[in-house]
Amino acid sequence: MVVVKLLLEITDLAVEVNEKEILSDIDLYIGEGETHVLLGPNGSGKSTLFMSILGFPKYKITRGEIIFKGKDITHLSTTDRVKMGIGVSFQNPPAIRGVKLNDLLKMEHHETGKGLSPELNALVKKLKFDERFLERDVNLGFSGGEVKRSEILQLLAQEPDFIMFDEPDSGVDIENVELLSEEINVLLDKEKKPGLREKSGLLITHLGYILNFVNADSAHVLMDGKIACSGNPAEILEDVRKEGFKGCVECCNPIH
Ligand SMILES: Nc1ncnc2c1ncn2[C@@H]1O[C@H](COP(=O)(O)OP(=O)(O)OP(=O)(O)O)[C@@H](O)[C@H]1O
Ligand SMILES: [Mg+2]
Repeated sequence: MVVVKLLLEITDLAVEVNEKEILSDIDLYIGEGETHVLLGPNGSGKSTLFMSILGFPKYKITRGEIIFKGKDITHLSTTDRVKMGIGVSFQNPPAIRGVKLNDLLKMEHHETGKGLSPELNALVKKLKFDERFLERDVNLGFSGGEVKRSEILQLLAQEPDFIMFDEPDSGVDIENVELLSEEINVLLDKEKKPGLREKSGLLITHLGYILNFVNADSAHVLMDGKIACSGNPAEILEDVRKEGFKGCVECCNPIH
């Protein structure tokens, strides 16, 4: 029997934003090397869970705990969580005026030289950026697709152990979804056999199209701030497509 070591353990989590409870009774366990998918209708709390795991101060944890790599991080700062190996691709990252993408990438890849290392340059090319683009302020005037590609490029430079992707496929054309998926697979160690993968992820998606290219081990449906259903990603997606989110959840929790 293969025993999966847990990387992220969320127990009985409740979260408030502006004194309103958005999430409650959240239990989520992600093993080393596993990729989980989070589905749910608009406003169900997916980004709130993402931000709470990242530790943004606005998201107040009122109950429960988050354990990462065996350490209680429930009240740890975002900076410390990132130092422990958590990386993210935001749904709507802010523009950072005055900070060039070039400089951010070098910082994330721990480089201090004038130019980029050959390794970093290769990643830049893979994500279809050129040197002139890297001179631009982060996300300032980037197109929707450029923002998403830039987020994935930064993660490749950073090499985190646990990566959360908040709708990396939204607003991205089909060709670029395939390109991003390829790199998400690299980030999540998918080229290795399941038992040998070291990277784990939580992938938030609406349409599930990206799951044609990125294999996931488990899926969860968030409804009204609670995990209403968990299981096999392909089965859950099929249910959601056929029955909608409400139908899927009813099917998951039949009334006897
Ligand atoms: N700063 C805030 N102040 C008040 N309410 C908030 C705040 N942030 C989030 N919410 C509310 O929390 C609920 C969950 O929002 P969240 O962004 O987590 O949903 P989501 O599942 O990510 O939706 P989407 O699919 O549209 O991205 C929404 O009703 C939202 O309005
Ligand atoms: Mg969201």
